[in-house]
Amino acid sequence: MSTSPHNYLLANTSPEAPKRFSALAELFDPGTVRHLDRCGVGRGWTCLEVGGGGGSIARWLGERVGPSGHVLVTDIDTRYLEPLNDAGIEVRRHNIVTDAPLEPIFQLVHTRLVLMHLPQRERALERMVAALEPGGWLVVEEYDTASMLPDPEVAAGEVFLKAHRAMLQFFDDGGVDRRYGRKLFARLRAHGLSDVRAEAQVFMFRGGSSGASLLKANLEQLRTPMIERNYISARAFDEDLARLDDSDFITPSGVMWSASGCRS
Ligand SMILES: C[S@@+](CC[C@H](N)C(=O)[O-])C[C@H]1O[C@@H](n2cnc3c(N)ncnc32)[C@H](O)[C@@H]1O
Repeated sequence: MSTSPHNYLLANTSPEAPKRFSALAELFDPGTVRHLDRCGVGRGWTCLEVGGGGGSIARWLGERVGPSGHVLVTDIDTRYLEPLNDAGIEVRRHNIVTDAPLEPIFQLVHTRLVLMHLPQRERALERMVAALEPGGWLVVEEYDTASMLPDPEVAAGEVFLKAHRAMLQFFDDGGVDRRYGRKLFARLRAHGLSDVRAEAQVFMFRGGSSGASLLKANLEQLRTPMIERNYISARAFDEDLARLDDSDFITPSGVMWSASGCRS
């Protein structure tokens, strides 16, 4: 199974990772940029992106801060971030939980879809707050996949796939907090940030769309371990996967919470 030695269930070593990153960028970058903009990030800023994945937001930050600014992007697996070096962005292999804390010099720290995966997410959040300089902004974006489940009573095409249900169970059993997005507002306040705000976004994903391809990339990556561990049969899995290409299929996305707060 392609888990990493870091307990992260969707390791970047898997062939599905680039599909996941392009779907994430297409679906969520516009919302992320809106939230980053609202913090005032501009030329000359010093920014940190934690768990940068495919690097689309680090690249955007690099363009925004310009040559007088600085962007550091970290990940436990930087294979998709390395090309950003050519754009003047510092890429660092770094585990936010276990490696040395980052220097407290950042005017902006951003992370998306990282904390929910980490059993030690509170420690990671504390370290992100500690990396802010006074007056710096933290922007955290995480999913809640527990509150908005597919409901066939809403529309006939809205089906809660067995494979989707199995994946959610797999995440629960693997220590993912699938409601972490829902908790962000309170967690940012608990970590002492001021001016905390949070808002959320949900999409309806249709078969064949980039939302379906995000779901597909995650499911395909977990196919073998889920079948081996009897979360689902191979046949049921393959039938469900085929439905993700059917344009009649619809499912609500997870609820993507974006929360921000300022270190006083
Ligand atoms: C679901 S992906 C999200 C990628 C990107 N933030 C996005 O939203 O497009 C999670 C990323 O977090 C990274 N990651 C997982 N555990 C980490 C840790 N302990 N420290 C730093 N990065 C981590 C993974 O390698 C992966 O690239």
